[in-house]
Amino acid sequence: MWERLAGWARRGAAAALAGGGGGRARPIPAHVAFIMDGNRRYAEALGLARVAGHAHGYERLLAALEWCLELGVRCVSVYAFSIDNYRRSGEEVSTLMALAEDRLGSLLQECEVLARHGVRVRVVGDLSLAPSSVQAAAQRVMAATAHHDRAVLNLCFSYTASEELLQAVDRLVAGGNGSWPGSGSGDAPSSSGSSSSSASSAALESCLYTAGCPPVDLLVRTSGETRLSDFLLWQSRHALLVFTQVLWPDFGFLDLVAAVLEYQRHAAQLARLRAAAAAQAAACVTPALAAAAGAGAPPRCQQQQQQQQQGRHQLEQRVLQPVKVAAAAQQQRGSPCSIASPASPSSPSSRSEASAEDAATAAAAAELAPALRQRHAAAAALPAM
Ligand code: FPP
Repeated sequence: MWERLAGWARRGAAAALAGGGGGRARPIPAHVAFIMDGNRRYAEALGLARVAGHAHGYERLLAALEWCLELGVRCVSVYAFSIDNYRRSGEEVSTLMALAEDRLGSLLQECEVLARHGVRVRVVGDLSLAPSSVQAAAQRVMAATAHHDRAVLNLCFSYTASEELLQAVDRLVAGGNGSWPGSGSGDAPSSSGSSSSSASSAALESCLYTAGCPPVDLLVRTSGETRLSDFLLWQSRHALLVFTQVLWPDFGFLDLVAAVLEYQRHAAQLARLRAAAAAQAAACVTPALAAAAGAGAPPRCQQQQQQQQQGRHQLEQRVLQPVKVAAAAQQQRGSPCSIASPASPSSPSSRSEASAEDAATAAAAAELAPALRQRHAAAAALPAM
């Protein structure tokens, strides 16, 4: 009885949020991300074992997913386990792994919500760090929901955005594009053959774990912490961030509604910022990324480079040339003074310098990824603080 009443109330709220009933349509975030923080504090406050806090957190995750779907959100991402969380005590890590294995299994058996809303589950992160039993459970739930095509749940597990970006750069440098096992071949934006000015960011996005999902519109972190903790940094760069004091297991439907209202208040501004950033990215992408994407520099970028070259040429003609002539004349007259002329931008030597610079950039990018990965692994091996 109460459940039916609550469902009815939620549907009413969803209609109101969408601006139904003849009003103007209001934007609903396409992608909502949650940093589900505060499980242990919740357990401590109730005198429960920590694992009970996480178990309540899992229940709340299922509820929040369903509320999002009812509101019309098509993609939900949650921070279920960070690579940094491996630094917690061995006991807590194994308890969390056992819980994850169990709940990934029960997602399959119990969760009719997934089938009803057509939700595809993707467990994303560096799963090689997790026990093989967790990897297997993750594969099972991904395979079982792979045909669902109306919504996506990204369970970010054994995940950090740094690791995600590093592996994406690795794949870009190696010439790959987005065909993550969990993303489906048709999902990911492809970089192949694209000469569009946004080729580079599309190519990078196709190599992220969340390939095929729209950018995050709304990111909610519970428990009063106001940090991003290395979560979906690229995807959330134009998102509205909402930080709430509520501990994750206490996060309720009204907390979600409050966050969506906040998003709607800022939606127009966010859309303007996103459009401006896209225009800027289209104007000039980094040469290394464009090269990795197999695309030439975008037209506006080429235009800027040409203008710079013309400017340097004019400087050469109007200022340096007369100075060189004067210096040569002075040298002929036997003066010890000499002026070294910079190479003309169009001279063969500067052209070969420029291509050497490009090659060096590409080589540096190729070298950077494994080095940073090593630093990341070393940091992850530090004892918990
Ligand atoms: C942060 O709270 C939460 C986590 C580290 C784990 C969250 C995981 C779940 C809710 C379930 C995951 C489910 C699956 C299927 C993988 P915290 O432990 O940092 O709590 P605190 O902020 O109070 O210390």
